[in-house]
Amino acid sequence: EDSVYRERNRPQYHFTTRRGWINDPNGMIFYEGEYHLFYQHNPYEREWENMSWGHAVSKDMVHWQELPTALSPDSMGTMFSGSTIIDYDNTAGFNKGNTPAMVAFFTVDNPEKQVQCMAYSLDKGRTWTKYSKNPLIDSKAKWNSKDTRDPRVFWYKPSKHWIMVLNERDGHSIYTSKNLKEWQFQSHLTGFWECPDLFELPIDGDKSKTKWVMYGASASYMIGSFDGKTFKPESGKHYYTTGSIYAAQTFASMPETDPRRIQIGWGRVSHAGMPFNGMMLLPTELQLKTTKSGLRLTSKPVKETEQLFQNAGRWSALPAEEANAKLKSVKSTDQFRIKTTIKLSHATSAGLSLFGQRILDYDMNSNLVNGVFYSPEDMNSMEITADIYVDRTTVEVFIDNGAYSYSLQRKPVSDAKEVLNFWGNRIEVKNLEIYTAESAWK
Ligand code: FRU
Repeated sequence: EDSVYRERNRPQYHFTTRRGWINDPNGMIFYEGEYHLFYQHNPYEREWENMSWGHAVSKDMVHWQELPTALSPDSMGTMFSGSTIIDYDNTAGFNKGNTPAMVAFFTVDNPEKQVQCMAYSLDKGRTWTKYSKNPLIDSKAKWNSKDTRDPRVFWYKPSKHWIMVLNERDGHSIYTSKNLKEWQFQSHLTGFWECPDLFELPIDGDKSKTKWVMYGASASYMIGSFDGKTFKPESGKHYYTTGSIYAAQTFASMPETDPRRIQIGWGRVSHAGMPFNGMMLLPTELQLKTTKSGLRLTSKPVKETEQLFQNAGRWSALPAEEANAKLKSVKSTDQFRIKTTIKLSHATSAGLSLFGQRILDYDMNSNLVNGVFYSPEDMNSMEITADIYVDRTTVEVFIDNGAYSYSLQRKPVSDAKEVLNFWGNRIEVKNLEIYTAESAWK
């Protein structure tokens, strides 16, 4: 049955659906040994319509099993983005015996407005019952705006209440609740758009020192503090770690079972001629690190992804021509991975191309990586390190250990002579590692 996942232009180690459209990841949670990925889904066509929550589960975030649609449109409207929690203390009263409810919060969209609703599941997300008194929040009138959506709910231990972060008009609002049913508005922070996320992270891995991160759909974030009602940014500044990702979400907080803060984002890649459209980017771990410009998020693929890759060669200190000769050993240009460190010395720009497409393009003078501002930690070294994941339709690149990352839609494979090619004036390829990549659909 897995032959469905073998079409010519289907990513082999990124999540896609058998058929239909996908956009945002939703309701990401780790429960009873399963990572749940719900997502904005049109189960019927390749275009954005009939918004439903699709559902897939995985034990390792690498091999996914697609399950039946979790939430389908109803008489109120279609199922927009949101989140899930486990109600261990039965605050909403949906639990049955020792089985806590998985509760999903989502936006119902109709031509007139967007309202916030919930549903619960007692069988690990397989079947859902919509709450009979939906909607929970209808705030169109208050904001004089239809843009009220994407509830992100989590438990805030110090105050023993639930938090909902909600995109309302021009920013993210905070609501609180004791029972998941009645919600009180607390605060609003302008300057964000869609798909809020809010989480606490240790600074440089030290759990005794933490900061909070407010996140929006374009992956812009602010660092600050949170008291259970208001998020206070430290500076007025928005930062970003990942370009070209959209509507990313992190797995619900699960300090007891998996303390990592793991993100999956929507890869806005089109899949012409395929029965599906859109994909998810690799799961990455987010960490707060002290850099020369202050605290910043880094994003790196989770260690579970390592199982996909087999080393097929490792070299150091090669002139570009020799490195290019080694690249000829890449057998399948469909899917592989390359790690490299390039030393520029004489060049002002350098990089790597794939079938003529510049998948890495570092302009040292202007501090640009593939057109986006990026300034390395150590400017004097004149080096850039890239971990490059090539799949059939996409390339994901992680610069300098996750300090900056981006993804690209691949150009179609061509007959070009130069398949992979380092470019740049008299550059040294200080490090080159080539990996073959397995298919995750087995
Ligand atoms: C983000 C978004 C969300 C919305 C969903 C609808 O991509 O616009 O704000 O809930 O997609 O599919």
